Amino acid sequence: MCGIVGYVGAQSALDVVIAGLKRLEYRGYDSAGVAVVADGELASTKKAGKLVNLEKQLVSHPLPPGSTGLGHTRWATHGGPTDANAHPHLDNTGRVAVVHNGIIENFAALRAELEDRGHRLDSETDTEVTAHLLAEEYAAAGDLAEAMRRVCRRLEGAFTLVAVHADVPDVVVGARRNSPLVVGVGEGENFLASDVAAFIAHTRSAIELGQDQVVELRRDGVTVTGFDGSPAEVRAYHVDWDASAAEKGGYDYFMLKEIAEQPKAVADTLLGRIDASGSLTLDEVRIPASVLREVDKVVIVACGTAYHAGLIAKLAIEHWTRIPCETELASEFRYRDPILDQRTLVVAISQSGETMDTLMALRHAREQGAKVLAICNTNGSTIPRESDAVLYTHAGPEVAVASTKAFLTQLVACYLVALYLGQVRGTKWGDEVGAVVRELSDIAGAVDAVLETMEPVRALARSLADKNTVLFLGRHVGYPVALEGALKLKELAYMHAEGFAAGELKHGPIALIEKDLPVVVVVPSPRGRSVLHDKIVSNIQEIRARGARTIVIAEEGDQAVVPYADHLVRIPATPTLLQPLVATVPLQVFACELATARGNEVDQPRNLAKSVTVE
Ligand code: F6R
Repeated sequence: MCGIVGYVGAQSALDVVIAGLKRLEYRGYDSAGVAVVADGELASTKKAGKLVNLEKQLVSHPLPPGSTGLGHTRWATHGGPTDANAHPHLDNTGRVAVVHNGIIENFAALRAELEDRGHRLDSETDTEVTAHLLAEEYAAAGDLAEAMRRVCRRLEGAFTLVAVHADVPDVVVGARRNSPLVVGVGEGENFLASDVAAFIAHTRSAIELGQDQVVELRRDGVTVTGFDGSPAEVRAYHVDWDASAAEKGGYDYFMLKEIAEQPKAVADTLLGRIDASGSLTLDEVRIPASVLREVDKVVIVACGTAYHAGLIAKLAIEHWTRIPCETELASEFRYRDPILDQRTLVVAISQSGETMDTLMALRHAREQGAKVLAICNTNGSTIPRESDAVLYTHAGPEVAVASTKAFLTQLVACYLVALYLGQVRGTKWGDEVGAVVRELSDIAGAVDAVLETMEPVRALARSLADKNTVLFLGRHVGYPVALEGALKLKELAYMHAEGFAAGELKHGPIALIEKDLPVVVVVPSPRGRSVLHDKIVSNIQEIRARGARTIVIAEEGDQAVVPYADHLVRIPATPTLLQPLVATVPLQVFACELATARGNEVDQPRNLAKSVTVE
């Protein structure tokens, strides 16, 4: 939530910052602002609404050129999305500018204290206090990094702060606690950003900042300390994707590009992890085999789409390893006093690696002695840093707010974890698991095959653009897929969409069925668990008898569904547990096309932000 960019170097800071903000706009798009230091003065401007509004303002009211600057794109927490609440915030002298991501919990007390000392605060934000405090501390310390450390020691909550001061034109300082901030290391220039995407066009060398650290950026150097001033150890890394990966590449929307990239994302996530004999090599999972052998419970924590991946993972883990597994919404987890100990393996799934609810859940789990394995897509992010081990998904940058390729790769990673647990524990598997491993290795081709046949799904979506409600039904792995289909439709098409376990229908939701109501049904394979298949075919008949317009997603060759499907979407045959990898794709395409038909912003749906760094 909120995107931050800071720059010091020889280029135009404004150009670098605006280009960086464009790549971070997925993090929040309520308002945006920039500040540059030029000729010993600070110049800044900000505007409510999307970044394009700020760009227009910069055309009519240009800022003077400067090579030190910062910028912000906001997802509002304290105070509505107005010009006044947009960042940067300045102190009363107008010489300090601060941008912030997170929530400063004790801002009311700090504001009262500042007002008592005669400061005038102009916005409703929690951020503005930091600009005033920083100006005071700089006046006392004469050093911007030290002033930032002093301010940070007074703040409660989660924050990334980046600041400049007109008195020190070649310095940008940043601080982080529970909120993301990475350093980009260039030649004669350095960058700060919430996400490497902001500076990837300039450098692929990055430094991960740890918790409670302050960084001072000059053209020729980066100094990192703890909030107490002690030198900090930092981890440098190379970003393994380039600028083109963070661009639309000819697609109208990032979401379309990311849907199309799924076969590659899936293949990349599998790459090098299953050998020709079907054996798994997951060197990254640094939790010793001896510990994994003792695990007597797995708990998966995640939010939103990642939670849906976790619901499917539970079925795979329990079926393949016979270890009891629970999947929990991370936001609920620590508040219900969960039972955890050294024999519990907690799996935290997160695309961004920054989701605060998931981070808090894993911290709670570690405090109780559990081992935490993260499944994450973002190198250097907080969740992997704070976990005992991480299995990275290799989806590449996911920019569209609605998650697509990250979901499929999370599923792949979950299957790998389940199979790996079975492997290290010596679980005796029959032919079924051998076949799953073989089919998993080739599954990218099946995802590709689905993408080839999506035109009828798009046409169907367009024909439903004036509907208000769509229901989604599934059983077993199809139930989380139904939840995911409904979530995609809610967030993109702003339609009432709900996912149900098909068996629950008769316990209440069937009352919702009325003439012509679109109901999407995810049908399990008729092979294998045929009882389940037969039951859902009955469910389809029940809703159709009550007037529903049935949109049936079923395996190629499944003839039993044909008489009851108003619209039939075929997916390739896969082992039951792998079916979500192919069944979810039509639902993503469906939601994307419906959103477009309704004139909605596909990549930046209203009220949402990609990386949810507040609880
Ligand atoms: C939905 C979506 C969200 C995220 C959720 C968790 O399309 O993107 O529901 O899945 O906010 O985010 P991560 O995976 O970054 O922890």
